[in-house]
Parts: sequence; structure tokens; C-alpha cells
Amino acid sequence: MTERIDALAYQADERDLEWWKNAAIYQIYPRSFADANGDGTGDLEGVRSRLPYLKSLGIDAIWYTPWYVSPLADGGYDVADYRAIDPAFGDLDAAEALIQSALELGIRTIIDVVPNHVSNEHEWFKAALASEPGSKERARFWFKDGKGQDGTQMPTNWVSEFRGTPWSRTHNSDGTPGEWYLHLFTPEQPDLNWTNPEVVQEHLDVLKFWFDRGAAGIRIDSAALPVKDTAFPEVPEDTTTEPHPYVARPELHDIYRGWRALADSYDDPKILVGEVWLPDLEEFAKFLRPDEMHTAFNFDFMSRPWDSAEMRASIQQTLDAHLPIGAPATWVLSNHDITRPVTRYGREKSGFSFADKAFNVPTDLALGTARARAAAMITGALPGVLYVYQGDELGLPEFEDLPPCAIQDPMYERYEKVAPGRDGCRVPLPWTVDDAHNFGFSQGTNPQPSWLPQPAGWRDFSVERQDLDPHSMLNLYRAILDGRKSIGDVAEGDFAWLDLDVPESSEILAFKRGEKFACITNFSKETLELPAGMKTILSSSSQTSHTQVTPDTTVWVELV
Ligand code: GLC
Repeated sequence: MTERIDALAYQADERDLEWWKNAAIYQIYPRSFADANGDGTGDLEGVRSRLPYLKSLGIDAIWYTPWYVSPLADGGYDVADYRAIDPAFGDLDAAEALIQSALELGIRTIIDVVPNHVSNEHEWFKAALASEPGSKERARFWFKDGKGQDGTQMPTNWVSEFRGTPWSRTHNSDGTPGEWYLHLFTPEQPDLNWTNPEVVQEHLDVLKFWFDRGAAGIRIDSAALPVKDTAFPEVPEDTTTEPHPYVARPELHDIYRGWRALADSYDDPKILVGEVWLPDLEEFAKFLRPDEMHTAFNFDFMSRPWDSAEMRASIQQTLDAHLPIGAPATWVLSNHDITRPVTRYGREKSGFSFADKAFNVPTDLALGTARARAAAMITGALPGVLYVYQGDELGLPEFEDLPPCAIQDPMYERYEKVAPGRDGCRVPLPWTVDDAHNFGFSQGTNPQPSWLPQPAGWRDFSVERQDLDPHSMLNLYRAILDGRKSIGDVAEGDFAWLDLDVPESSEILAFKRGEKFACITNFSKETLELPAGMKTILSSSSQTSHTQVTPDTTVWVELV
């Protein structure tokens, strides 16, 4: 089967080797997308059954969050075996079949690779725990002696990315306390030692394993974190002037250069997309040099509040950072870690930051939905790559009332249960109005309840309902994704700000693509009268006339 996939991929890529520069990429969280066997957990067969839906949405590629064997201590970002699919999702044959079926519809596959850590149930870590300090098994990870008398203090005072300590102490074979090991995330996610050539080689082999099975590229998880300063210093007070012991270390770039060389060695070159959370745009851009990653996620835009000046600044900075290195920008409104846009944009504080996550933050969902629709049209019209997280195209709100006993995200525990964690955006999708089948999420007779409960009102968000409504979020997304291809200027026109000569201009975000297309968003409280010579071709609001833009609305216009 592998050979056939390669042949197919090659034919497709010959038509367009640069597909990734303006692709629309749909993110699937396999656990929550579609459940073919009715066990309450999504699976690969479920995805395969929904490929026609994805085709009709108009996407170019799917990015899957990890589908490998995993104890799911962090939703699959704790990989126990990269060369096998988690039995809850299917098996390797199912993955190959899915990659191939998608390709037949012109949809490419991007898989997730998590270089910073593996699962504590990975063979390597089990072997490390069973081996003595100083052994080659332990040298694949960061095992260190503790400080102080009897080594009872942690080797450093670093803080975990999920709060709390990033060190856990092991026990020696005689039961006495032993070395500590590093885990920047949960204790079930031990960090790998990237100075070890075995770690480097293993990842090249894993990439090859999946590229040979037809994957068109990889999403690189926590891409700025894998390399550590081997002296293990404390984090300096000012990391703008002094190097950070584990964020964006210069040695990372050689690793990604090695990956890029492998990716480029295919007849249908593979792509690398980095999850690079770095406020310093210069450092960010280094990852996008021509011999490193193709693109990286742009989290800045997603983090900004609903405000024209903020969004304008973010767009400008993003384009400025990408232009000199010739890499396309990416536009992201959410993902499996982020509060859903319709909930976020309906809040008083409408930007996103993990630190702001809390229970019972009021939101106006009608307002949030209007703004999320408008934001989808902004990101859809910007130059570069568009990411759509499953369920955003249905306008799903964050499920904020998940019963605490149902929450599985480790962030909830690590934040001492004062914030809800990330499961509220990971709830299984509603496909139909049939509640006996978890709103169509689960197929088969007598399915189990879904692994996270769905709110009762979600039948109204179902694909079945939205299909019939020309103004639904789903049909808006279809129009946006179609417009990115069918409107020549949106596909390739140059970007330029458009200054409208109107009284509320500071609260209007307007830009042109090419000579004939503009995207205009009204952030003010007044209805905007469009200047003459503009014809609305798509609006995020069902009420907008052809010459007006109501508040919290985006229109795409033809300049005539
Ligand atoms: C990334 C993933 C997130 C995961 C973390 C650790 O940020 O998006 O879901 O928890 O890495 O792997």
C-alpha cells in the first residue's frame, strides 16, 4: 500500500509543489471527531467516513493531533510508540487507508511529532527506570542527582509548562530515593536528551516511517523546547538579555535542518510546521529560514483581543516578520489548547492567555459568535496558510460546565483545579440531531456515551442542522474556503492596508488583496456606510445590506 500512496502523492504534488504556501489545513482531534465503532471515542474509521464532509468544506490538508499508542496522560502528547496507532483509534492499516482515501480526494495528511518528550510508558523510559544511574538507557533522558544533603532538593528551580515542578524523583532498585528526571510537562512526559545521537537518529527514523506511509508533513510539538543547556542553570531574571536554559536554544536549528533535509529528499517534498510560542519575533523567524521549517503557527493574532488596533498591529508584525525570510504566515483562531473563539470573543477580556483561564467568566455568546464569524473572514482573507480547528466551523462554544469528574486534561489538576483546563474545546462533535448516538458522533447500535459529555443544546450546532441554513457558521466557512480558491486576488493578490475615509475609520480594519478585492471589518458601535465603488460579495452577518457593514461584521467586497 505504501508504494501506491507515494505514487499518488507525487502526482498530486507535481501539479502544485507549493500547495502549503496558501493551504487551508483542518485540525482533527481524533478522540472527538467521529466514532465509527460506537465505543464513545473517536477513531480513524470515523474520520474516513467523514472525508466527504471535509472535501465539501474545501480543505487542502488534515493535521491530526497524536494518534499513536499512548496512555493519554496528556491527550496523546505522551507517545508510547510512534510506529503504532493507539488501539482506541485503529491500527496502522487503518491509518494508511485513511491517508490514501484522503489523498484520493486531494486532501493531504500532516501528523504530529512530539520531540520534547515521550510517555513514561515508552520502552526507552521503562528501560531507563530499570537501569542504573549512568547507564546508556538513562542517557536518553535527563536524570540528575538532587541538590542538598541526600539529594532531596530538585536539580533546578525551573517551573513546569503546566505549573508546579518539572522534576520527579525515582527510586533505586533497593527502594532508596534515587535520581530525579526532567519533565517540562507532566511526570508522565519525561524530556528527551537531544545531545544524545540516538535520540536524533530515532526521530529521523520516525519521520521516515511516516513520510514513507504517505504523510505530507509534520506538525512539531513544543518546537522551541527540546534542547536544554547541559549545565542546567537557573532561568535568569531577564531572558531578553541572558540565554534561557531551555527555550529556543541555538542548537535546535541543526536538528530541524536535519529534518528539513530528510523532508526535501522526497520527490514530493514533505513540510514542517512548528508549534513555536515565542514572543520575540526575530527568534521566531529563525525557525523559518529556508533550510528549516516551512511555516510555524502564529499564536499572536489568536491571543489578541477583539480590537481593530490590536489586530492591525498583529497582522502588520506578522507580515513584517515573515517577509524578509520569504516564509508564508499562518493564521490560527484556535486549537485543542485554546478557548473556543465564540466564547472568547464574547467576553470582556477577549484575548487569549493560559493565565486568564478561570471558571465562570461571563460571556455573551451571540456577540462572540458574530465576532468569530467576522474573525474567520479576516483570517480567511489574509495571505498565507489558514488553520481551522474541528468544530470552529460549526461555531461550537467552549463547554464550560463539564462535570469536574469528567475532566481529563492534566492542566486542570496541575492548576490545582482553579481553572477548567482545555477539555472544554475537545468535546466530541455534533453531526446530527440524534442524541441516542451522541448527536451522530457515534455510529453503530447502542453506542456508549461519548468520552466527554456533550451539552444538550448541541443538536442545534450539528452539521445536519447547519447544512440546511444558508446563514449557518458551517456555510460561512464553506464560502470562505471556496473564496480563497475561486477569488483570484484572495488566492494570490498582494496585501495592502486600505484606509477608508469614514468618520469611525480608527475602528475599521480594512485591507486589500490585489486590485479588486478588499476585506473590511467594523469594530465600532455604528453601522458603516461603504464608500461608493464597493460591492459586497460575502458578509459575516445575515443582516448586512450591500452597502452597509453592521457592528462586529466583516465583509468581503469587490472594488469596482
Ligand atoms: C503542545 C500541545 C499540547 C500539549 C503540549 C505538551 O502545546 O499542543 O496539547 O499538552 O504540547 O506536549
